Amino acid sequence: MQNTTFSTLFIGQSFIYLQAVDSTNNYLKVLLSKSEPLAEGTVIMADDQFAGRGQQGNTWLSEPGKNLTFSIYLKPASLNANDQFLLNKAVSIGIWNALQQFVDQGLSIKWPNDIYVFDQKIGGVLIENTLIGNAIKSSIIGIGINVNQQNFSNNGLVRASSLSEILQQDVDRITLLQRICHAIEVQYLRLRSGGIAEQHKEYLRKLYRFAQPSLYKHNEQLFEGMITNVTNGGQLVLISEDGELRFSFKEIEFFNNN
Ligand code: BTN
Repeated sequence: MQNTTFSTLFIGQSFIYLQAVDSTNNYLKVLLSKSEPLAEGTVIMADDQFAGRGQQGNTWLSEPGKNLTFSIYLKPASLNANDQFLLNKAVSIGIWNALQQFVDQGLSIKWPNDIYVFDQKIGGVLIENTLIGNAIKSSIIGIGINVNQQNFSNNGLVRASSLSEILQQDVDRITLLQRICHAIEVQYLRLRSGGIAEQHKEYLRKLYRFAQPSLYKHNEQLFEGMITNVTNGGQLVLISEDGELRFSFKEIEFFNNN
């Protein structure tokens, strides 16, 4: 493993590298269940994540040694359960900012927090929060970025790609990891110091298909709509010929006709 010094205050200052693990989120969960306290900002990275988990109970497939699969432990004590989506926004903006240092066109955040380049997905985020009452006790931020993988089965609805496929050259995974951790820390600190409104605007500016009339599918019905906002609770707000519509995750599909 090459040098993994992080130029951060806390994210990555404690770093655990694993050759293989089922899921870095699971590994972090087990660590958190032990009695020893874990430093906020601990990062677990695995070269081979053989049972990676995605959103909606999907699996996250990643070719061993080619990509980034890692989890960050955060303790957002000042946020309450209703604020969970603020963390999604801060993390997605951070990832976007780090990737923008490599990709100068077409980078966006697909609601709620997929990372896209034009119409292809290159990364995803799975945030798992533990709540105590109305407080967020701990947050596991699981991040998968397709970095140097060249072959994707692409038999699902979402078309996957990687940074190397887009840039036509390999990217150093550790440099990318350091930049992502740094950029997430910047956004996390910004959130903690009251940057909520600014982050919301920035999230919308970076949002895939924001303010663009596009096709969507709901209950097997195709309709044209335009994203106008995302609610505090994380619902997608669209305007359509039936007026304003709000959707939770799973209720709506972004339609691609190509
Ligand atoms: C998605 O887009 O469905 C979210 C994918 C999240 C994948 C990452 S890889 C590291 C962490 N460990 C997991 O098991 N999942 C997340």
